[in-house]
Amino acid sequence: MLHLGVNIDHVATLRQARYATMLNSPNAEPILLEAARAAEHAGAYSITIHLRADRRHIQDEDVYLMKNKLRIKLNLEMGNTPDILAIALKVKPDFVCLVPESREEITTEGGLDVVTHHIALKETTQRLQANGTKVSFFVDPIPAHIEFACKCGADMIELHTGTFANHFDAERLEEVSRLKIAAEMAHQAGIQVNAGHGLTTRNVRDLFAVPHLAELNIGHSLVSRAISVGLVQSVEEMLEVMSEYSLGGAIA
Ligand code: PXP
Repeated sequence: MLHLGVNIDHVATLRQARYATMLNSPNAEPILLEAARAAEHAGAYSITIHLRADRRHIQDEDVYLMKNKLRIKLNLEMGNTPDILAIALKVKPDFVCLVPESREEITTEGGLDVVTHHIALKETTQRLQANGTKVSFFVDPIPAHIEFACKCGADMIELHTGTFANHFDAERLEEVSRLKIAAEMAHQAGIQVNAGHGLTTRNVRDLFAVPHLAELNIGHSLVSRAISVGLVQSVEEMLEVMSEYSLGGAIA
């Protein structure tokens, strides 16, 4: 069964747009925990939040709240920096997904350069794992990065599907081929294969040619659809499409 991680960053984006300086106001909305509960209710496997260095959406208090109140797994996305790592070590989320991060980007724009940063990534991975958190690397489908993710001891990779999502026709098919090779490589090495970025109910079926997928992490499209139908229905619609996937891998 293909699991769904619901990324609720953009629920916080909407809250920050109005209440960034008044987070304790009784008026502050939308309420992150309500969104997480809706996703839980609809059948999500995990909740993902990205604590960015610029705190543009998720705040430190949100991370602690999720850790204390969630009934499903918590996946913390983060850049590999000492201050965010210190928070992750304190919070002990179920999973950490290490991502590259730059202040200028609108959203995460690509996978980690695992080859260049393997020493620092390995050290962070070991510290998190020793603290009870499983570690995922967000990577482009490039064999060298998968190879180094294995060398660093990652429990999982999350394949970056942004290029897949933003290309169509023959170019999308070419990206699917790269994703298939990467998924196969990681699976052979015993690493759980997840995927995410830019996925929607309209494009996700094209990803189903990729084997061994255990979990998809999806945010923007689910929160966008929720404006029309509510988050419970939005998540249920995605899970309905995801139930068609038949090449799934095991959860680590
Ligand atoms: N996975 C990772 C590592 C991400 O950085 C993001 C975006 O925050 C997502 C998945 C979800 O992407 P989207 O919001 O496009 O569904």
